[in-house]
Amino acid sequence: SIAYLNGQLLPIEEAKVPALDRGFLFGDGVYEVIPVYAGRLFRFKQHIARLENSLQGIRLPMEQTLQDWANICHQLIEQNSLNNASIYLQITRGAYPERNHDFPANPSPTIFAMITALPEVQAVPSDRDLQGISVITAEDIRWQRCDIKAITLLANCMLKQQALECGANDTILVRGGVAFEATSSNLFIVRDGVIITPPLSEHLLPGITRDFLLWLAEQHGILTEQRLIPEHELLQADEIWLTSSTKEIRPVTRLNDVTIGNGTAGPVWRQMYDHYQQLKV
Ligand code: PDD
Repeated sequence: SIAYLNGQLLPIEEAKVPALDRGFLFGDGVYEVIPVYAGRLFRFKQHIARLENSLQGIRLPMEQTLQDWANICHQLIEQNSLNNASIYLQITRGAYPERNHDFPANPSPTIFAMITALPEVQAVPSDRDLQGISVITAEDIRWQRCDIKAITLLANCMLKQQALECGANDTILVRGGVAFEATSSNLFIVRDGVIITPPLSEHLLPGITRDFLLWLAEQHGILTEQRLIPEHELLQADEIWLTSSTKEIRPVTRLNDVTIGNGTAGPVWRQMYDHYQQLKV
């Protein structure tokens, strides 16, 4: 596929970054994952607003405008003729002659973007969608700024791998008995018809899908609540979902080997699935 690197479009195999790049040495960078549906960027302004917050969070100011970022994305969509895809956009603090922890006075950031096809989601959920996924819970070993979409994802990878080695698909992350999100998605539960998700804090990413779902629910008169979810409450939930730009809304039907609800995607999930598919295009 054709990727973007520092102003150039080139085959992804030829996109090379210096070994002294601070992204490589320190994980000093941030990223976004932006969905493309029917050739159009979905919730683009919100993704770029979050990118700007992440950049501010690591004190890396950039002069690119919304239009500049959009141009990069549109070039990738066109060059790769993809209609249903996700764009990965990453900015690191750049490469310098020496490995030095101090922030450079005049940074020259590395901008990289690539595009990956997304599976076509059908208007009617597949058996596989309905079956849902299986998760475990584990202590959140990440840092105190999970609201920044940082490229330093070692803890996320370890926690995801832990799930795979337990025969599960993902891990819900818990701090002091409270569940916040999963390794690459936000957490929702449903109880008595009310959609509940943890409030924004430094312990979770302000998910664009999370925000969209809260808005969608309100539009359809479904009650929502933003409050902390104790780990033990997960087992009492009628439904559990994980949400992200690439997974959309994924029902969780097993938690630590216990069945959630009746073991398949629940009715509120089904409603939200329909609303989501309708508004995607
Ligand atoms: N991950 N929480 C974490 C830790 C995430 O990494 C993500 C997204 C989300 C959901 O955010 P959004 O709805 O804006 O995609 C929540 C992306 C998709 C990734 O790392 O691939």
